[in-house]
Amino acid sequence: MSSMIAMKEFADRRRRLMEQMAPDSIALLPAAPERTRNRDVLHPYRQDSDFQYLTGFGEPDAVLALIPGREHGEAVLFCKERNPEKELWDGFLVGPEGAIERYGLDDAFPISDIDDILPGMIEGRSRIYFPLGRDAAFDHQVMEWVKTIRSKVRTGAHPPGEFVALEHLLHELRLFKSPAEIKVMARAGQISAQAHRNAMLRARQGGHEYNLEATLLHTFMEHGARSTAYPSIVGGGANGCILHYIVNQAPLKDGDLVLIDAGCELECYASDITRTFPVNGRFSPEQRALYEVVLAAQLAAIEAVRPGNHWNRPHEAALNVLTQGLIDLGLLSGTLDDALEEEAYRPFFMHRTGHWLGLDVHDVGDYRVGDAWRELEPGMVLTVEPGLYVAPDNTRVDARWRGIGIRIEDDVVVTKDGCRVLTDDAPKTVADIEALMAG
Ligand code: GLY
Ligand code: MN
Ligand code: MN
Repeated sequence: MSSMIAMKEFADRRRRLMEQMAPDSIALLPAAPERTRNRDVLHPYRQDSDFQYLTGFGEPDAVLALIPGREHGEAVLFCKERNPEKELWDGFLVGPEGAIERYGLDDAFPISDIDDILPGMIEGRSRIYFPLGRDAAFDHQVMEWVKTIRSKVRTGAHPPGEFVALEHLLHELRLFKSPAEIKVMARAGQISAQAHRNAMLRARQGGHEYNLEATLLHTFMEHGARSTAYPSIVGGGANGCILHYIVNQAPLKDGDLVLIDAGCELECYASDITRTFPVNGRFSPEQRALYEVVLAAQLAAIEAVRPGNHWNRPHEAALNVLTQGLIDLGLLSGTLDDALEEEAYRPFFMHRTGHWLGLDVHDVGDYRVGDAWRELEPGMVLTVEPGLYVAPDNTRVDARWRGIGIRIEDDVVVTKDGCRVLTDDAPKTVADIEALMAG
C-alpha cells in the first residue's frame, strides 16, 4: 500500500471528527459492499468515500467504530481475518493485526465477531452517528445491535436513544482539502490533462468516438490511475449537446467538434476535465465564435473563484458572458439585463457552472448556509464548467449554429488570495488546440 496521504493524516481526520461528536456517543461507518456485475462476476471494488476518508482501508466487509474516550482505543476496525487459503484465490487480506500496524487503527477485531463485540461498545452511549438512511441493510444492522442491548435492560444495560446522520459533521471536514489531498488531486488533474492532449492527437486519424475513449483510458492506466472518476463522455457533433452522453459509438466526422468530458480517479480522488475541439484540427468560423464565448465565460468564472466570493459568483460571471455572447452573435435578442432576468440563455446553457470535487466527482459539502450561498474559502476544490449547446432541432436560430455543443471544464482549488487551476496542462485556447493538433 503506497499512498500519497500519510497514515497520520487519516488519524487526524478521525480525531477531528471525534472532537465534534457529542460526549457519550459512538460513530459507525460500513465499508462499501462488493457489487455484482453479472452472475458470479463482481465490479472492480471501490471503497465508500467516507470510509476511505477516515481509514484509507481498501477492503469490503469492514465497519469502523469511533468511540471517543474508550480506554482500549477510540478508533476500532472490524475487518476480515487473514486466511491463507482464501488469500491464495482472492489476494492479500490486511487482517485485524495488520489494520493496527499498517493503518494506525487503535484496536481491531474480526468482522465475524462484530455482533458479539459491538453491542457492548455501544452500550452506555446515548447517541449513535451513522449514515442514516443511506443503506437499508446497514440501518437494519444498527437496529439489531441496539435490540441486543435493549434485551438486556433488566440487567442494567443502557441502550442509545438518539440516532443522528453522520454526514453533517463528516462532509464539512471533507469539503476542505489538505495540502496532501491537493497534491493527489493535482496529479490526477495532470494525468487527465495528458489524456485529453492524447485524445486531441488521436482525433486527427478519425475513427469512432470510442477510439478517443480508448486513448483516454490508455493514458489513465499508463500512469497508474486504474479507474475513471465517472464514465467518459465522448460526443462528436450534435452528440456534444447531450449532457450525459456515454454511448460513444458514433463515427467522428471531419468538420464536427468533439466534446470530451473525462477524468481519472487517483487514490479515490476524482479529476473532471472537459475539452471541445475540432475533429480535423481546425475550428470553423461558427464553432470558433461560440467557442470563444464559452472560453471567455470560463475565464471570467475562474477569475471569480476567490476567498470571500460566494459559491454562486462564478456562475453569475459565466452567465453574464455567455448571455452577452449569444446576443452579440444573434442567437438571442434584446438587452443583457432582460435576457438574464428571463433566463433566455436556458435553451443553450441548462446546467450549473460547477460543483465541489474530491473523493466524489460531485463531492460532498453544503452549497448554501441557511438562506445564503456559501462563501469560498481556501482548500475548497470545485470545477468551473460553462458550456453552450445549440440543439440540432433548434429552428429559432440560424441553421449554421445548430448541433454545436461546447463545454470547457477545469478543476480549481481556492487559495489564500485567489485560486489555482489544477488541470492547466490540457490546452483550451483556439490557438493552443490548433497548434497541438497541427503538430
Ligand atoms: N463529469 C461530470 C460533471 O462534469 O459534472
Ligand atoms: Mn465533467
Ligand atoms: Mn464536472
